Amino acid sequence: MRFSEEFLDELRFRNDIQSVISPYVALKPAGRTMVGLCPFHNEKTPSFTVYLENQSYYCFGCGAGGDCITFIKNAENLDYTEAVRYLAEKSGLALPVDSYDDTVSRLRHRIYEMNRAAARFYYVMLTGQNGEKAQNYVLKRGLSPETCKKFGIGFAPDQWDSLVRHLKNAGFSEDELVTASLARKAKNGGLIDVFRNRLMFPVIDLRGNVIAFSGRVFDDKDPNAPKYINSPETLVYKKSQVLYALNFAKNNNDKKLILCEGNMDVIALHQAGFTNAVAAMGTSFTPGHAKLLANYADEVLLAYDGDAAGQKAVNKVISILETTHIKTKVIKMVGGKDPDEIIRTHGKERMRDILNGAVNDTEFRLSQAEAGLDLTSPDGKVNYLNNAVAVLASLKNPMERDIYITKISSDLDVLKPAISEMVEKEIKQRKNRSERTIFTDIQKQITGHPNIAGTEKAFNAKTKRAEEALIRSVLQNPDFCKKLEPFIRPELFFSEIHKKLYFNIAQKIKNNQKLELTYFAGELTAAEMNVLSRLVNDKTLLSNTLQECMDCIAALNAEKGKTSSPNIVELDDEGFRELFKKASK
Ligand code: GTP
Ligand code: MN
Repeated sequence: MRFSEEFLDELRFRNDIQSVISPYVALKPAGRTMVGLCPFHNEKTPSFTVYLENQSYYCFGCGAGGDCITFIKNAENLDYTEAVRYLAEKSGLALPVDSYDDTVSRLRHRIYEMNRAAARFYYVMLTGQNGEKAQNYVLKRGLSPETCKKFGIGFAPDQWDSLVRHLKNAGFSEDELVTASLARKAKNGGLIDVFRNRLMFPVIDLRGNVIAFSGRVFDDKDPNAPKYINSPETLVYKKSQVLYALNFAKNNNDKKLILCEGNMDVIALHQAGFTNAVAAMGTSFTPGHAKLLANYADEVLLAYDGDAAGQKAVNKVISILETTHIKTKVIKMVGGKDPDEIIRTHGKERMRDILNGAVNDTEFRLSQAEAGLDLTSPDGKVNYLNNAVAVLASLKNPMERDIYITKISSDLDVLKPAISEMVEKEIKQRKNRSERTIFTDIQKQITGHPNIAGTEKAFNAKTKRAEEALIRSVLQNPDFCKKLEPFIRPELFFSEIHKKLYFNIAQKIKNNQKLELTYFAGELTAAEMNVLSRLVNDKTLLSNTLQECMDCIAALNAEKGKTSSPNIVELDDEGFRELFKKASK
């Protein structure tokens, strides 16, 4: 959807970048800019920068950048047109007539309505006279009627299409039912319910919308049926952005959350008074979940199953949470395999003791490093030390590191400097490895592909700088564009993103259009917008002469003549560091 320049101008005028961003990010003034913690990745020191002079933002940590529309797009998870409408409505600006195609957002609303109607239907089925079997199961699991009501627990009848019929009667079309993933086409062409003969758990988002369902079997009618069926992702459901019961748990005041594996654990904990429990729904824990947790918690207690799979999952969660400010503790599951079982067999007091006894993540990982080893034998000691060094090297706080090194040294009767030396070595190696990852990330951002060195469009620091200087020169000196035109062909560019940016800018200059970021937001992809925002705000000096541009063109032509740039995979550490230093200049 295209909007007129007049409209975009007005939108931009009414939506000052600072006022758009500040509800999401606490901004502090820093010179002529404002800085804060980036809302798009986890960080502890601010690298998210807002430029008031040109109404843009750029994050030096993750490379996210753009204008007010791009920001709302990403922060509210909307498409371009929806983001424009959002800002227009917020600032009392009428959308141009006929300019808005709202098919997607209308469909989204229909799905919310359908899901709500379905949840109500399932709830009525559970409490009604045909719900007896399901009611018995609920009783057996120790769930009170209040709990069922609070979580909207329901029952999907043992019929092929009871929900389909109900929702069609309520005015929803077959297409809509399929789009909401509440029904699907059967082999004979008819429409059948996705959830049949299951106990139903609606998933509710932070605004109170029903966005998905999880359904559990509760009898042994079909021994091969999966225990849980979870809704697939839909227009309104992104698994990595949802934590079950966060709508309730977020209201706790002490900024502590309990993270469990299953929704039954969450419900059991809430019923027992631990109303700060949440779970990742039908998927493993992702950085998106971590970000969500970080909005509401300073401390997270991990209450995963005591089995091997659960403990493996805990390790993964710990490593993801390490990138946030969250302090992580791990619960030792004793007296049952999960919180639900412990509460049911031993009561909530026992659960409270277990929660209070949670150990910090370092202790948890060190105890895992010890698993299966005999610390009295020299072999066992060495193996344990190797495992422990990996744990210690990942600690960011040198004091914490020292405390555990001291402890291990005395526990194992090994000299402290020996352990320290191993840890330092491991830290150094990790640093090299992570520089390498940063490098590939830069490369990916520029070329759109990780490590394409060796292929025709190889990335190297020199071409990157030349292309960037060209783009910035025409942005700052639109009059250059016409003069450079005979010398610039699409093949000149190594980076696809740079090529697209350059020619998009050149086209705008030709058409006498303005070069504000707002006019690009509708035409560029997120990755392109990120790079443009960085270049617009790049303050390194340009000489702003045609000669400089011609030099860049010459440099690019010269690089084209060469065979290929070094393949970073084949570089040794020295060569790699050189390249990295150059690239990050
Ligand atoms: P209960 O057996 O009802 O107490 O559930 P639980 O939470 O103890 O189940 P479990 O530990 O087996 O599973 C934890 C989570 O993994 C569940 O909440 C589901 O989200 C998911 N899960 C378990 N079984 C299945 C399955 O068969 N299919 C899918 N898709 N997910 C499952
Ligand atoms: Mn369980």
